[in-house]
Amino acid sequence: MYRELSFDHDDYSIDADNESDYDLDDYALSDPNFSDLNFDDYSIDEPDIILDVPFVPTDEKVVHAMLDLAEVTSKDILYDLGCGDGRIVVAAAMHRNTRGIGIDMDPARIADAMEYAGNAGVEYMVNFFEGDLLEADFSQATVVTLYLLDLVNVELRPRLLDELRPGTRIVSHAFDMGDWKPDKHHSFGSVNLFKWIVPAKVAGTWEWQATSGETYRVELKQKYQKITGNAWIDDQPAQLKNALLNGDMLELVIKSETNSRPKGFVMRCEGKQLVAADDDQQATPAIKITIP
Ligand SMILES: C[S@@+](CC[C@H](N)C(=O)[O-])C[C@H]1O[C@@H](n2cnc3c(N)ncnc32)[C@H](O)[C@@H]1O
Repeated sequence: MYRELSFDHDDYSIDADNESDYDLDDYALSDPNFSDLNFDDYSIDEPDIILDVPFVPTDEKVVHAMLDLAEVTSKDILYDLGCGDGRIVVAAAMHRNTRGIGIDMDPARIADAMEYAGNAGVEYMVNFFEGDLLEADFSQATVVTLYLLDLVNVELRPRLLDELRPGTRIVSHAFDMGDWKPDKHHSFGSVNLFKWIVPAKVAGTWEWQATSGETYRVELKQKYQKITGNAWIDDQPAQLKNALLNGDMLELVIKSETNSRPKGFVMRCEGKQLVAADDDQQATPAIKITIP
């Protein structure tokens, strides 16, 4: 379904040294929230292609702020969904040694992105695909960048949560994700950047043994990265004082009603188990149980 264009042309006509040096104040292409654009019709020259979002490139300095916020490194695989001229993918490859994939519905953008990557000498690290970002497979990403619209982000949200590995970072320029509140929000001038960390799915009832010999049980409810719930120690009600989920890492603090010292557990979600992570309190992995 996706047309992959290969980098076999020798003739790249864009100047390789065209990195802009704007101040964030010079954010002149458009209002970053697209408020000065007409949203009714994003049709491009290709018949039958209607874009969900118009092409408005992210300012180069904002690109770097996005890469900083996502903490992009050479170990990452970055996907820019709606990649435009490829500038985010190319900047990550040039400055962070990161492999990247850009997806855009507009073939002219894909051609520009490939030309830009070739000019920058990073074509062997990146790939650009023509296709619909709402249908594309982005499950291999460790970082996803977006400059779309809040409605498109919300439409993508279930797939981001279900298909990306826990811990994957998502950074969006200008637009949030509805009721999935960001883990970080950076605002400078008229520019807003949002970051989410894909949470593991930990809702349910879990049981494990502590090194002290007690059996701990928690019943966790989850809304995105927010965890609430109840706890028991040896079948006696206890207090779940704190529950923090960061990607695949879950930190629980539980206090018995009788003993005044709460116990903390740091666990990594590994499939159907919560395994102790740098924590000497937990004797066995937590396993999911069903209470009849
Ligand atoms: C605001 S621009 C962002 C470009 C780039 N990510 C950046 O930040 O510089 C949005 C891009 O999404 C592309 N686009 C819009 N709807 C799309 C869709 N359904 N599938 C793939 N690309 C789409 C447009 O062609 C445009 O290049």
